[in-house]
Amino acid sequence: MNWKPDKSSHDPIYLQIADHFEGKMRDGEYPSGSCLPSERKLAATLDVNRSTVVTAYDHLASLGLVARVKGFGTVATDRQTFDGTAKRIPNWEQYAKSGFLHRNDPITRHIHAILGSDQSNINFAIGELSPDLFPVALMQQAHSRIEMSQYLGYEHIQGNIGLRDSIAGHLRTHRGIASSASSILVTSGAQQAIQLIIQGLLKPGDGVAIEDPSYCFSMPIFHSAGLRTYRLSVEQDGVDPEQIVSLYKRHRIKMVFLNPIYHNPTGTTMSAERRKRLLDISTKFGIAIVEDDPYSLTGFGQAPEGTLKSMDRDGSVLYVSSLSKIVSSGLRIGWIAGPHSVIQRLTDAKQQLDFGHSNIPQWIAAQLLSSGELDNHLRKLRTGLQHKLEQTISSLRTEFGDRIKFRVPSGGIHLWCELDGEWDELQLFNQAIDLGVVITPGSTLGSHRNRIRLTYSRVDDREIAPGIRKLAEAYRYALGFDR
Ligand SMILES: Cc1ncc(COP(=O)(O)O)c(C=O)c1O
Repeated sequence: MNWKPDKSSHDPIYLQIADHFEGKMRDGEYPSGSCLPSERKLAATLDVNRSTVVTAYDHLASLGLVARVKGFGTVATDRQTFDGTAKRIPNWEQYAKSGFLHRNDPITRHIHAILGSDQSNINFAIGELSPDLFPVALMQQAHSRIEMSQYLGYEHIQGNIGLRDSIAGHLRTHRGIASSASSILVTSGAQQAIQLIIQGLLKPGDGVAIEDPSYCFSMPIFHSAGLRTYRLSVEQDGVDPEQIVSLYKRHRIKMVFLNPIYHNPTGTTMSAERRKRLLDISTKFGIAIVEDDPYSLTGFGQAPEGTLKSMDRDGSVLYVSSLSKIVSSGLRIGWIAGPHSVIQRLTDAKQQLDFGHSNIPQWIAAQLLSSGELDNHLRKLRTGLQHKLEQTISSLRTEFGDRIKFRVPSGGIHLWCELDGEWDELQLFNQAIDLGVVITPGSTLGSHRNRIRLTYSRVDDREIAPGIRKLAEAYRYALGFDR
């Protein structure tokens, strides 16, 4: 090949290479199905880096002009015509594969697809409340008090001031946390709060520690952001803080993400002693802690569990929570409470993402939190959750006998179960779906392979026993008994 890219040109070299090959394809030199030169050979011939050739070929692939075929190389497609009238139709499949956010894992996608398309399934998979636990009357009341003559333009990016005041009041009375409207950012659920923290405070290559198992594993957002993730095993009294010390010494982790109260999925709560030690470690090494706390008000005991943030005298903890697990997941109201500089930075990030949260859910949430009726609802919620848990446990004991093990949680909405014997996770999952029951396989939440998560809060009381019966049938199948 005589042609070489012009290194003195302002046009990027990869584009020059892509244009060159596009011309060659148009001229018929590379008919449909023929292979372009290998990346290595072309890089040597053109005296460029191999990564430049890769970028050039990726560009052609994004235009649909070539396909990257494993074991073959880069192959010209039939999207070109040879009379110079080739249409440059965007290759949407290629685009769909190349966004910087990683795809969700296939089981998680399958769970959402199944539940989205068929409401008749018995849903032990999605972490939310069942319709009978939503405070419908309270929501209607809050809604009816809304003044539609309020300002209908963009809300304050940090969140509606009335809502931030109500959240600060709620944090003080219900979670032992001192804050003010200026130290709170309203987010679209706790999920967006975590996303903002990752994108606004960390950079690719930073090390973070997350619990294993954890809700975080079901979301590839940590890896999409290029973070190094390290696992913290979860014990009966939560994460052992000494694990964090050794991770810091070996990997210089910058941040720890924890869900210390009624942890998803294990239901465990970090002991007060461990929480205290964790805070000491945080201030000794300067490690930031994110306390993700959607569940602390769902405890079955009289007094709610004290949050980590309520013990934080030095400001080491960013506190994340939401109304999803206690009021309504569809309202999409969450928040972050933290130091002013962090809240300003994350508000700036939120502006880039969505220009601030929708105002109507914020007004409803503000009414709800300041109405004085929330406590009554929370009492009913806890009783309802406990009832569902007891029913689930009783059905599991009837159907599984001693082939299932779990620790009975004292709050939260999930039951983390270990099933006996040699069984195939996918077979259990798929067979349960065939029988109309959806569960969360343990592998989607971390490194555990012989576990399943049963979310008891989402299921109608009347469906718990039939659902567990069907699950036991699927389990027998996965063990090979019913085939
Ligand atoms: C521990 C934990 N954090 C955050 C979330 C996200 O909840 P949301 O965005 O609805 O507040 C969940 C949802 O299951 C969760 O279990």
